Amino acid sequence: MPDSKPLNLPPGEDIIIDYHQLEQVLPQLTDLVATQGNVFKAKFPDQNSWVYNVCDPDMAKHILVTNYKNYKKGVGIKQINVLLGRGIIVSEGDLWKRQRKMMQPLFSNKLLTQQLPLMTACADKLLASWHDDIEAGKPINLTESMSQTALDFILHALFSEDLERIIAETGENPFLMVTDDSARDLLFARRFRQLTHLVSDMMQRRRAENRQPFDLLTMVMNATEKRSGEAMPEKLQIDEILTMIIAGHETTASVLNWTWYLLAQHADIEQQVLAESQQHMPLTAEPNMADIEQLKFTEQELDESMRLYPPDWVLTRQA
Ligand code: HEM
Repeated sequence: MPDSKPLNLPPGEDIIIDYHQLEQVLPQLTDLVATQGNVFKAKFPDQNSWVYNVCDPDMAKHILVTNYKNYKKGVGIKQINVLLGRGIIVSEGDLWKRQRKMMQPLFSNKLLTQQLPLMTACADKLLASWHDDIEAGKPINLTESMSQTALDFILHALFSEDLERIIAETGENPFLMVTDDSARDLLFARRFRQLTHLVSDMMQRRRAENRQPFDLLTMVMNATEKRSGEAMPEKLQIDEILTMIIAGHETTASVLNWTWYLLAQHADIEQQVLAESQQHMPLTAEPNMADIEQLKFTEQELDESMRLYPPDWVLTRQA
């Protein structure tokens, strides 16, 4: 006897979503979750295949963690390969695994701790610029400030002394285009890929001068595959560097930006965050990791900000 139990299919026969129209997609998805539930299907206009939309922590864990081998990175990720080449955000399968292992040391706790003085220096620079603006009666644009500071940090973490050298030699910071231009279209991708030459020149110069400053570029240039001992090909080194510039500043800037927005609306929470930092991280001393680990309430506040306003609010996977 055939099993006559009807298949439990998600709703959405008539739903059309133009996922390319990003500004419309977020409110549309929010409405659809309210009316259709946590799983529904939809179609791109003029396309016949279904997109299943999932908004549920357990199912997200199934797709992204426990059963990740059954899913490839989806259409959203494919679109950004013009921007990021074959860096680990975009790559798949064996290439991803190999690159990911070589990149892992860049994300260790030890390295993060070593970068704390740099973070403090970037925060001090921001405070000084705010101070100047306030003295001059100029309004502060928090969104711009967060973006510039996050970029300032990741660029110094990547290129350390070479960044200052390029600025001194050319009179400008060529990487500023990523905060000056908020479009992420093909035109931007083409301009951004021009930076490939700059990074490649920087690498050549380091090799010629036999210099290995303590920064992420040196780590990527020295990264080797454990088993074969082979170095990472230069093209991939550059893709991973460009990936870190984009992935490493837009996300953190967005979290900080929304966090300020939320704090401005909740004076009681703002007071608690302030009190916690005054207790564990007095401005008179350089902060260390042990101090930061005491900031439990602030951590919860940042988590809540990311829950309400996740910087990556849609992830795509292909079954
Ligand atoms: C609060 C800040 C951040 C958030 C919310 C965030 C979010 C994410 C998310 C959701 C993904 C998975 C994307 C997908 O697979 O579809 C991801 C991947 C990635 N992020 Fe971040 N990110 C943050 C900070 C950073 C920073 C600071 C860096 C680099 C310095 C970075 C580098 C990367 C890289 C390289 C990947 C790809 C990892 C892999 O596929 O193996 N991210 N991030």
